[in-house]
Amino acid sequence: MADLPTPDTLPPGRMPRHVAIVMDGNGRWAQKRFLPRVAGHKQGVEALRRTVQACMDRRIPVLTVFAFSSENWSRPVDEVSGLMELLALALAREVPRLHQSGVRLHFPGDRAGLSARVVKDIQAAEATTAGNQRLVLNVCFNYGGRWDIAQAARRLAAEGREITEHSLCETTALAHVGDPDLLIRTGGEMRISNFLLWQSAYTEFVFTPCLWPAFDALELDRALAEFGARDRRFGQISGQPAGSPVAAGPSHA
Ligand code: IPE
Ligand code: IPE
Ligand code: MG
Repeated sequence: MADLPTPDTLPPGRMPRHVAIVMDGNGRWAQKRFLPRVAGHKQGVEALRRTVQACMDRRIPVLTVFAFSSENWSRPVDEVSGLMELLALALAREVPRLHQSGVRLHFPGDRAGLSARVVKDIQAAEATTAGNQRLVLNVCFNYGGRWDIAQAARRLAAEGREITEHSLCETTALAHVGDPDLLIRTGGEMRISNFLLWQSAYTEFVFTPCLWPAFDALELDRALAEFGARDRRFGQISGQPAGSPVAAGPSHA
């Protein structure tokens, strides 16, 4: 890693505009310390606060985090209820602070599965912060990549619209931001676990064994450095000038 660039020395085009994170490893972080798993989730909120600040400091305009997946309902009931309580607590505590810092909040995910109270809280957080422009923070809650593609297709069908790549892009739960440039997964697993399936077609992946509650600006900088050293080809060949395809392929639907 010694000769990788640091975020300070990365040219602007080498900094991601949209960073996504699978915040994994909370339970293991807690278990290592003989604490209940929910203590790891609590520390995870602290790690998120640090990471939001670090993104703002580095002028990264969009951060998308995976907080609760469609599949996480199958955890023990007390862990699920602990996570729901923690969301309510974190919203009450963090939204005023985030609002003050200029963060715009979105909660992509299936609201149908959430309690009326949680839905009310996340709607209020979105409305309060709607005018902010410093950082867009997408907290994916009750989110699944398959759910997202299916809900977009369902909506287009209900509206009688044609299903194309373009119309699907416009209808996913993350249509308000571009696709992620960099996806970081903490906790050491090398899988996507049903996160941004549609949006990560050309995303660079960085996996780190660091458990999410221990994630900090230094870990972020390591991932940014790795991203900066990648050659993103988007199907072209290395060094090909932008906008000069070798041969025109079939146009995007
Ligand atoms: C990620 O940490 C948080 C959620 C999935 C809600 P985990 O709870 O999955 O932690 P590990 O992977 O068991 O350590
Ligand atoms: C992914 O982590 C979901 C979130 C971080 C919210 P999981 O811990 O649920 O993923 P798996 O089960 O190890 O694939
Ligand atoms: Mg996990």
